[in-house]
Amino acid sequence: MTKRKDSGIEILTSPKESSKKATKKRSIEVPNAKSIVLQDMGYPFRAKGDPRTTGLEIDSEDLFADYAREQWMGTIVREGLYLFDRYIMPDYAFQVLEVAPKESIISKETKIHLQSQSTATESISIRLVTLDEVVGHEPIKRKCRLILEYLQNPVKFGEWAPRAILFYGPPGTGKTMTAQAVANQAKAKIFFAKASDLIGVHVGDGGRRISTLFDDARKNSPSIIFIDELDAIGLTRSFQSIRGDVSEVVTALLGELDQTAEASGVVVIGATNALPLIDPAIKNRFDTVFEFALPNLEERLCILQYYSKRLPLKIEIDLQEVAKMTDGLSGRDLRDRILKESLHIAISDESSTITSEIVRGVLDKVKPKSHLDYMI
Ligand SMILES: Nc1ncnc2c1ncn2[C@@H]1O[C@H](COP(=O)(O)OP(=O)(O)OP(=O)(O)O)[C@@H](O)[C@H]1O
Ligand SMILES: [Mg+2]
Repeated sequence: MTKRKDSGIEILTSPKESSKKATKKRSIEVPNAKSIVLQDMGYPFRAKGDPRTTGLEIDSEDLFADYAREQWMGTIVREGLYLFDRYIMPDYAFQVLEVAPKESIISKETKIHLQSQSTATESISIRLVTLDEVVGHEPIKRKCRLILEYLQNPVKFGEWAPRAILFYGPPGTGKTMTAQAVANQAKAKIFFAKASDLIGVHVGDGGRRISTLFDDARKNSPSIIFIDELDAIGLTRSFQSIRGDVSEVVTALLGELDQTAEASGVVVIGATNALPLIDPAIKNRFDTVFEFALPNLEERLCILQYYSKRLPLKIEIDLQEVAKMTDGLSGRDLRDRILKESLHIAISDESSTITSEIVRGVLDKVKPKSHLDYMI
């Protein structure tokens, strides 16, 4: 990682490109971009037979601009460069059509305009996900609906406001999806931060990044701060002695969480796969700790039904049977390892439907993986 300047270009989610060229350019003064025009380009790299089509349907251009700024803040852009989405539609590409000044860096103030090239026939609807689409996790969704109410009307809650909630559970169980749904439905600004990106390379970097993140969120309230992979920074003290670089971040995070408790209209959502690694002092700052358990039989069936409706080919198997055979798999596994894989085989075989043989073949190969990395 490169040392980053402290001129409003703190990078909370570091851009993928960290080539030597980019590093070199950073040491020269690069101005902040005033405006950029992006064009949506779809998936320029996709395997043969990948059914993903291009075209976006965006409900609010302002929301898209906020979302784009958040994820690409700190990236140096020039005309012709491609930017790849990392959250809602990983690897979806946008090309920079215009940028002023010519070579500049995306900052909080950059105006982002999207020029869509989607055509009516090609367009797929990329709806922003809602809480109703998250299968199961009822108590969590109830709390999230309360948070939505709070973000719309903080005054009503006064000192009893929900401040911070922590999601934990195995990979692929819907933690990020739920946080995304809350942000979409609240029409609040969401500040995504991967905890590993908050750890700086130089002493003081991490603390500074945390305070920039929280300052931005407070200035833009109502807002949500989503800190993914919290275990990377919220390490218990015993691990901090091994990883000295995180202790400063833990201290900064504790301070910010306390300050946020007094501020209004900011909610922190943390997510982790490894709850025992989180420092108890940090865990304590969260009002509620929610477990995202693996889906049960009924939930697996709902997830399979929901995603198979969106498959471009008809699936010819009793989904109840699939649900019964997939104990231990997460929502992501069901979507990607079962349905997507079956679809890909059907497409490669030039089959007009996803036959039950194809799905059974896939099921035979997929053994529930042991979630060794998941600790409660
Ligand atoms: N309960 C669910 N209902 C509907 N879809 C789900 C559910 N759980 C997972 N999925 C599907 O799996 C995808 C991956 O889930 P998500 O990214 O939210 O997992 P996660 O819990 O954040 O995992 P990780 O710990 O790896 O970050 C979702 O985008 C969604 O398509
Ligand atoms: Mg996640």
